[in-house]
Amino acid sequence: MAMNQRILDGSGETSTQMLHRLTSYEPGRDWTAPQDDPRVLQDLQVNDLARLPWFFKRYPQPLPRIALPRDLPGTVAPAIAVLAGTAQVAPAALDLPQLSRLLHLSAGVVRTMERSYGVHPFRAAGSAGGRFPLEVYVAVPNGVRLPPGVHWYDPLEHALVRVGPAPRGSAPAVIITGVPWRTGWRYRERGWRHVYWDAGTMLAQLLALARSAGLPAALYTCFPDMTLAALAGADRVHELPVAVVSLGEGTPALDPAGPAAAGQVDAAPVEFPLVTAAQRAGERRELGLPWDQGAPADVPITTPATVEAVVAARGSQRRMDSTRGLPQELLRTCMSVAVRGVGVPHRVVVHDVENLAAGVYRWPNLRATVRPGTLRGELHRICLHQALARDAAFVTIAAADISRLDDREYREAQLAAGLAEGRLHLAAYALGASACGMTFIDSEVPQLLGEPLDALLFTCVGVPDYMSAAAGPPGAPRRVRIPTRRS
Ligand SMILES: Cc1cc2nc3c(=O)[nH]c(=O)nc-3n(C[C@H](O)[C@H](O)[C@H](O)COP(=O)(O)O)c2cc1C
Repeated sequence: MAMNQRILDGSGETSTQMLHRLTSYEPGRDWTAPQDDPRVLQDLQVNDLARLPWFFKRYPQPLPRIALPRDLPGTVAPAIAVLAGTAQVAPAALDLPQLSRLLHLSAGVVRTMERSYGVHPFRAAGSAGGRFPLEVYVAVPNGVRLPPGVHWYDPLEHALVRVGPAPRGSAPAVIITGVPWRTGWRYRERGWRHVYWDAGTMLAQLLALARSAGLPAALYTCFPDMTLAALAGADRVHELPVAVVSLGEGTPALDPAGPAAAGQVDAAPVEFPLVTAAQRAGERRELGLPWDQGAPADVPITTPATVEAVVAARGSQRRMDSTRGLPQELLRTCMSVAVRGVGVPHRVVVHDVENLAAGVYRWPNLRATVRPGTLRGELHRICLHQALARDAAFVTIAAADISRLDDREYREAQLAAGLAEGRLHLAAYALGASACGMTFIDSEVPQLLGEPLDALLFTCVGVPDYMSAAAGPPGAPRRVRIPTRRS
């Protein structure tokens, strides 16, 4: 870890550590209530339908649009082999149909639900609370087989909207931004954590989709924030640069050749000063190194299901069958592929897994529990009485000592936790199980784990009680209803 960058306010806390503390849940305070601290917005009424944020960014002025191809190219490599890094896929060049596949199956609207306030769009990758706070751009330099320019991805119409001139650089790149108000409307300042969880979840799909098609894809989470914000037309308050995926050889094309068109994330977005400070504290001026993909995972390939088939079938499971457990091999495969290249430690709480005693394990050590015992009741309580944490076969916990992380590393750790969550999801569905991301009461986690770690994200994996409706194709999302949950 790099040297911590402490803010000099005498507390010895960085901006992100402060945000983490002030957005931590504790018993006795409802999750919708703010902590009593002037740095947290006190007068915001959360979940106020009269102020429901827009689901997507809007551009008031007419801008050039390119409809993306709706016939998506298929792949053949098994999703598990792709996630494990063992799939043999011939290299391919990025063209418009391939880009169309990447965007639809990671960020496109694939399902819709009628709600009291209108139609709620659901995207291809999960999002905490269904808030979907991410925006996606594609930066295309001159001289590649794609329309040059900086394009905003319209996830409903499945189109590229040109918001800026072709950037300087060699490789086309996908840029992810986050809109804190869209998720903060429900989760307050904690929504900033969700932006990074959701980005990781979505990137798990984007990277797997690219690798399954033989496209080069490199993830960058250290980049010049101001440059990236200027490229996407993000103001760094209501829209924040989060991650970059380069889709070609050479430097990603991130250097703006002119201003981006001004868009709006909402009619009246609310600023969370704590979030702005936490984001700004981690800003950098240079492009860092791409993430290491990690060593290939030695796991059995027992199903031919492709990445696109798994993405189409996935949906966060709302009911798991607590009377049935899962094979140990499934747990090993899910975890092995989920944490490839991810530095964040993981613990696994086993409820019902073949030949494993119930209790807490320190992945990858499954030889002995660090805390034996049936913890279904405890997990139920720690996860705000959400039944999935009790009914799952196992629950994974990404946890870190955040006192050792600087403000950039904190962002990266949250994103890494989301990346592992997204891969767990894909692996579980590929293997016939199901999964769901899960929030938690922060203050209860050290006692659960028996060590002083800060929880980043939980994921429940278990036997599904029903199958999700398959995702709809580009431009034709499937209409679905809310599955009932267990209490
Ligand atoms: C990071 C993350 C955290 C989540 N946390 C919870 C949770 O605490 N409880 C829950 O029921 N669902 C949780 N979910 C599932 C979302 O509600 C779900 O992804 C969203 O409604 C979209 O539905 P879909 O995943 O079926 O497409 C979480 C999802 C993600 C990605």
